[in-house]
Amino acid sequence: MIDFCGIPLAHRIVNGSGTFDAIAARRAFGDAIYEQFPFAAFVSKTVTLEPRQGNPPPRLWELPGGLINSIGLPNKGLAGYLREDLPQLAELPVPLIANVMGSRREDVARLVAAFAERDEVAALELNVSCPNVKTGLIMGADPRELAALLDHVRPHAQAKPLIVKLTPNCASPADVAAAAEQHGADAVSLINTLRGMAMDPHRPGEPWLGGGTGGVSGPAVRAIALAQVREVRARVAIPVIGMGGVQCGRHAVDLQRAGADIVAVGTESFRDPLAGRRIAAEASSLMEGFPANTARGPEVVRV
Ligand SMILES: Cc1cc2nc3c(=O)[nH]c(=O)nc-3n(C[C@H](O)[C@H](O)[C@H](O)COP(=O)(O)O)c2cc1C
Repeated sequence: MIDFCGIPLAHRIVNGSGTFDAIAARRAFGDAIYEQFPFAAFVSKTVTLEPRQGNPPPRLWELPGGLINSIGLPNKGLAGYLREDLPQLAELPVPLIANVMGSRREDVARLVAAFAERDEVAALELNVSCPNVKTGLIMGADPRELAALLDHVRPHAQAKPLIVKLTPNCASPADVAAAAEQHGADAVSLINTLRGMAMDPHRPGEPWLGGGTGGVSGPAVRAIALAQVREVRARVAIPVIGMGGVQCGRHAVDLQRAGADIVAVGTESFRDPLAGRRIAAEASSLMEGFPANTARGPEVVRV
C-alpha cells in the first residue's frame, strides 16, 4: 500500500477529474467495473454550489495529439451531488476525492465544509482554474489570490487532506504551488488543461467550440506537464499528483521521476476505460527495484 496524505492507495494511478464517470461506467459495464476498478482512488468531476448546464455544443475538437474540450463543468450542484451521486460513489472499492470549484471564496468554503463532514469523502481537490467574480483574477493563476482563498477555505476542510489543482495557464505554477503549500494545502495536482481553440472549418473566422476556447489535453500536453511537475517539485515538499497526456506506464514513470508521487490518467480513459489498470501494472513493473520518486532521492535513475 502507498500512503497519500494518510490515505492508503493500492497503487499510484488515479483518474483526472472529469475524465472518468464511475456511475456511467457501472451502468455500461456492470458491477465488473467496480470489481476491477482501474484507479487507486476516484476523483469526482468538479462540483459547484449551484447546478450548471455547461457550455453550448459543440464541446469537443479532436487534435492530432489529443482533445480540446469546452464541456464547461456541467454538474448537478452540491445538493444534487450529495443526494444522487455520493451514495453511489460511496460503493466504490477505492477512496473518493471530491473536486470542487467556486467563483467566490464563500462558495468554495461552503463546498469544502459540506464535503469535509462526509465520511464517504477521503480528500478534497480544489479546482482553481476559474475567475474570482470580485477580483476578476483566475484564482489559481496568482499566488496572492490563491493564498487568500486558502486562508478562507482551509479551516472548513477540518482534518481532510486538501489538494490544490494548479492551472498551467499562468506565469509561474511553481510560485502558485509554493503559496498553496504555505497556506495549508496538503498536496498539489497538475496540470489542468491548457487554453486553446480550433477554427470552424465551415464558418470562416468563427471558433468551432460553443464555448469559443477550450482546454487542451492528451499527448499534446505531456511535455508541458513534465516540465511543470519538475518545477513544482523543486519548490514544494508536499505530495504532487502529476498528469497530462499519460497513455502508458513509461509516461507515468517519467512523471514520477520528474517528481510526482501519484499520477493521474485523463484523456486516455476515453479511448480505453481500463487504461488506469494497464498503466498501473506497466508502471509498477518498470519501477521495480527503484524508489518511486527519484527526484527527491540522492540519486537520479537514468534510463
Ligand atoms: C473532457 C474533460 C473534462 C475535464 N473536466 C475536468 C473537471 O471537471 N475538473 C478538473 O479539475 N479537471 C478537468 N479536466 C482536466 C483533467 O482532469 C486533466 O487535468 C487534464 O485533462 C490533463 O490530463 P490528460 O492529458 O491525461 O487528460 C477535464 C479534462 C477533460 C479532457
